[in-house]
Amino acid sequence: MKRRKPLFTLSAFALFASMLLLVACQVGEKPSPGSLGLGDPLYPSLGNGGYEVSHYTLTLDVDVARNFISGNAEIEANTTQALSAFNLDMRGLEVIETRVSGRPATHSRSGSELTIVPNAPIRNDASFVVEVLYEGQPTPDEVPGIGSQIGWIKYPTGIYALGEPWGASTWFPVNEHPSDKASYTFVVTVPKPYEVAAIGELASVADDGVASTYTWEARDELASYLTALAISQFDEVTSQGPQGTPIVDLIEETVEEPGRSHLKKTPEMLGFFSDIFGEYPFETFGAIVIDAPFLSALETQTRPVYGSDIIEGLGERIVAHELAHQWFGNLVTPATWQDLWLNEGFATYAEWLWEDHKSGGSAFDVFWDVLWMTDLGPPGKPQPEDPFTAAVYVRGAMTLHALRGEIGDDAFFRTLRQYLSRHAGGNASTSDFVEVAEQVSGQDLDDLFQAWLYADVPPAPPQSADS
Ligand code: ARG
Ligand code: ZN
Repeated sequence: MKRRKPLFTLSAFALFASMLLLVACQVGEKPSPGSLGLGDPLYPSLGNGGYEVSHYTLTLDVDVARNFISGNAEIEANTTQALSAFNLDMRGLEVIETRVSGRPATHSRSGSELTIVPNAPIRNDASFVVEVLYEGQPTPDEVPGIGSQIGWIKYPTGIYALGEPWGASTWFPVNEHPSDKASYTFVVTVPKPYEVAAIGELASVADDGVASTYTWEARDELASYLTALAISQFDEVTSQGPQGTPIVDLIEETVEEPGRSHLKKTPEMLGFFSDIFGEYPFETFGAIVIDAPFLSALETQTRPVYGSDIIEGLGERIVAHELAHQWFGNLVTPATWQDLWLNEGFATYAEWLWEDHKSGGSAFDVFWDVLWMTDLGPPGKPQPEDPFTAAVYVRGAMTLHALRGEIGDDAFFRTLRQYLSRHAGGNASTSDFVEVAEQVSGQDLDDLFQAWLYADVPPAPPQSADS
């Protein structure tokens, strides 16, 4: 008799345990915190796991004189796991309050991580809204290796904000990795007579006599490093692309010629690149030109930002470069920062295509002969402390020219278009590009890409490359 009791207890326990398991399965997976980084090969802590953002609405009140922002970020997202907590990337500033789907949440800060704990877990595959109320004077950061400033930057006649690679988080809470693309609404209030330039389309301007509120809609999804905002006073210059694309250039009033005239080539360039790459992919285009020193250029989506010095110095070539990025980098965005040559090698190659077109087909011989003498490292292995190198830009472009020589013009340009249409609106890695090139050409291109992207010394140029 004594033996029976433990047996009975054991089977009762088994029954209880299996019931528990059943209940747990019905409820769904156990909620856990989203990871605090996405494991990018160059910058592992950028971005956050457990969700994807679909839309940011950033409402900012900017005291330009004090360089102080009062912000409300409303972030619409979807879970990719059951979440007990999740992170956003945010540098500096003070978080006043957070809410998740309308309910107060708790938050904590550590370095560039903002951790939010909702008052109840969020199940997997659910949509939710995060609100972050914040304020402060933003602290800009630097582009690794180059040292030029990124983030929210105050300069003598205004303010501008640039992302690449992690400047967005200096002015709003964000899932700051190129793999999480979203649309944006910017609602920015500035004291008169300041004006606000941004990406996308200007939806409205409201004026209460003291301050103006600008609402900019960026409907085509973008990576956070491609956001831009500028506060100053601008001349608006409008034109149209060949397919009717509205072109809106916002040029700071103090910018002089000849910088401005280089932008006049934009409609012609839009036609040229649309013929080669496929139709211009976004609803609008233009430029923001800022009269600030030490500012280079950035391919911010639909409206690249230029410093007045660089546009004057590099002329239409930089305009071609930033325009080409709208396809290579913006429409198709690198899966990780390791794939940076998919941006810079391609935009540099597009400059060569434009120069070649302008010179009646003699540019490539010149470039190729000069570049062959220069000793550049491999473009496929950018270093985290200095990713924006001539290896990535120039040998990246040389890699494409070597590919063109190997597979011929027809397969080469079909490869570019296939790659863009296959990954349009999303992300791609180097192996995605190689796959398209191999499929289109029917050739095994492993040796070519290995040698050009990863070997310390590039191979000899193929004979047919000087097309
Ligand atoms: N991606 C830019 C370009 O080549 C410049 C990169 C350096 N600057 C920066 N803010 N990340 O057009
Ligand atoms: Zn570039």
